[in-house]
Amino acid sequence: MRNVVIRSSFFGVLLMAFAVVGCQSVTTTPVNELPTVRFDPELIERGAKVFKYRCAACHSMDPDKSQFFGPHLANVIGRPLGQVDGYAFPEYLNDYAHIVWDEATLAQWIETPQQMIPDMCMPYIGLSKEADREALMAYLKYGK
Ligand code: HEC
Repeated sequence: MRNVVIRSSFFGVLLMAFAVVGCQSVTTTPVNELPTVRFDPELIERGAKVFKYRCAACHSMDPDKSQFFGPHLANVIGRPLGQVDGYAFPEYLNDYAHIVWDEATLAQWIETPQQMIPDMCMPYIGLSKEADREALMAYLKYGK
């Protein structure tokens, strides 16, 4: 009997965890109103590493630093595509000027950049691991 109680409370906790996760993925509220990328210092730290190895060769998170090969990515969430002072974006990107980097578009970009903007000359083919993408999103949102 005691065993059953322990088990059912364990499943109760599991169910609650699923309810919280499930709730975020099936909700119909517009994505940019949702706290989809959670503030988690450990996650941000992991994201900083992903950024260092996969993005920092071309991008900086410091808007005052000279732009390396690519535009800086400070405060990229909420910014329209191709709008960084001091960085000359190629002209073909004008066709994509309607894109705003919110959490949804940025998450898609991190996963499959070439599918989103086939012309983009960014020589990077996307992060295949979901855990890496999640951490990187946290870093891009909260990191410095
Ligand atoms: C080898 C260089 C390189 C790497 C690595 C790279 N990028 Fe880029 N990225 C670029 C260039 C160059 C552009 C500018 C677009 C262009 O010139 O076509 C760009 C553009 C972008 C933009 C659009 C910026 C804007 O203001 O509209 C985002 C967002 C972006 N990169 C994110 C990332 C992320 C996140 C990573 C790492 C996972 C990454 N990039 C890795 C070179 C790179």
